[in-house]
Amino acid sequence: MREILEQLEKKRAAARLGGGEKRIKAQHSKGKLTARERIRLLLDEDSFEEWDMFVEHRSYDFGMADQKIPGDGVITGYGTINSRLVFVFSQDFTVFGGSLSEAHAEKICKIMDQAMKVGAPVIGLNDSGGARIQEGVASLGGYADVFQRNVMASGVVPQISLIMGPCAGGAVYSPAMTDFIFMVEDSSYMFVTGPDVVKTVTHEVVTAEELGGAITHTAKSGVADLSFENDLEALLQLRRFVDFLPLSNRERAPERATDDPIDRVEAGLDTLVPDNPNKPYDMKELIGKLVDEGDFFELQPKFAANIVTGFGRMAGETVGFVANQPMVLAGCLDIDSSRKAARFVRFCDAFNIPIVTLVDVPGFLPGTGQEYGGIIKHGAKLLFAYAEATVPKVTLITRKAYGGAYDVMASKHLRGDVNYAWPRAEIAVMGPKGAVEIIFRGDLGDTGKIEKRTDEYREKFANPFIAASRGYIDEIILPRNSRRRLCRSLAMLRNKQLENPWKKHDNIPL
Ligand code: HXC
Repeated sequence: MREILEQLEKKRAAARLGGGEKRIKAQHSKGKLTARERIRLLLDEDSFEEWDMFVEHRSYDFGMADQKIPGDGVITGYGTINSRLVFVFSQDFTVFGGSLSEAHAEKICKIMDQAMKVGAPVIGLNDSGGARIQEGVASLGGYADVFQRNVMASGVVPQISLIMGPCAGGAVYSPAMTDFIFMVEDSSYMFVTGPDVVKTVTHEVVTAEELGGAITHTAKSGVADLSFENDLEALLQLRRFVDFLPLSNRERAPERATDDPIDRVEAGLDTLVPDNPNKPYDMKELIGKLVDEGDFFELQPKFAANIVTGFGRMAGETVGFVANQPMVLAGCLDIDSSRKAARFVRFCDAFNIPIVTLVDVPGFLPGTGQEYGGIIKHGAKLLFAYAEATVPKVTLITRKAYGGAYDVMASKHLRGDVNYAWPRAEIAVMGPKGAVEIIFRGDLGDTGKIEKRTDEYREKFANPFIAASRGYIDEIILPRNSRRRLCRSLAMLRNKQLENPWKKHDNIPL
């Protein structure tokens, strides 16, 4: 027995060493932590239960028979984050560059299958040179096995990818199908084809960082949700993020007790919206004042900043916020903001998270760029996402809600449960000036007449009362009382039941 225990300990020690001291040093010298160090920081102390520590690859070609490292380049298992179960895989770059072999893929698939059975999130810490080149098609098959599971798990358990090193080629498609992608600045990159191939095919000269670094994907492509300065910050923020999410689609998000009174009055909100309707204000200030303790976890802050998405809590319960941002493009809806918000709304709906929508939208962004880019289909994504969502939906119009964008932004007509407006909200087909210039085109030369007509239009239509008289707005509320009103509505909606008709799946305009 002692002998076998010694053997076990020896094998464990070998597995823990991964690719060896030299490669661990190289990893550290790049400012990166090892796969095991990352797991230690991500999970609660001593909570990690490792699986498949002794799995080895099964390839013989290119001298691989003599190069077996227990674990085969990925550490898998489960543990807890703030006492809540999560499954995790962490690719070990010190072992064959974290490349994915058939056995490596089997390990990932095993924890994904288990996560589905018990209903818990899957977190992937990605740091890999891609397909294990020595294995060829066996590795490609392994990727596809993971992809298939990503799709089956989508909408069942939250899936989060943290990119902490290379992620290239077809390997990017597993993170792409997960719910959220976070990246580490300066040490991670994602692209389908690398700089060398790009140069050969398109003659563009570009660095890996420019092509697929954290800044590119958080600000330009919108592929990633957030980036962090280093491994440590990324892992700590990931812990904070997981706290907002339910473990699966069968559960509610965890509630967190708060001392923040639900009837907190915010007198400052009465003057948040400037007198001049064309002057912007920061919608994030409103969100900060609505949520418990001002704690808001924003997603994609640098991409399509004309719409704000993220999680906060109200009376202890997780809420997904979608808010037009007047500070950027006057809060217009465009292609990127529609896609960004639609995906967020669908995540909330899949995982039982109520949605609060804050509306100040002058309409859809005009222009050939938008029309040629397919704003019709992309705008429809957001409309579709809101219309199909059955979770509690509470909407507050702070200022403008014009045209089709009024309909889209969780209006009453799309089964908004509670729709509020602030007293100076303007709900109309378009702004008074534009409206008058169309319907009184003949008077355009007469400034006095036009001004009079504009005032008339503003008085008649650019206010919340007509919408309220039809019941499209349930109540006109004082800005200062917004938190109390929203908290009460969400409490009333806690046991909301609504089902869409049976179908195999819908056909959202992709
Ligand atoms: C096997 C690999 C590997 C791979 C790296 N290594 N990538 N082994 N298969 N894909 C090994 C290296 O041989 C080396 O081993 C160690 O990992 C570290 O690699 P380095 O090159 O020394 O590190 P670095 O300079 O940091 O460069 C990292 C890298 C580079 C940029 C990722 O290794 C690289 O370009 N690798 C190949 C990437 C690639 O083309 N992969 C296939 C993509 S196609 P030693 O023993 O020296 O430590 C793909 C298809 C997926 O993934 C399809 C899914 C549908």
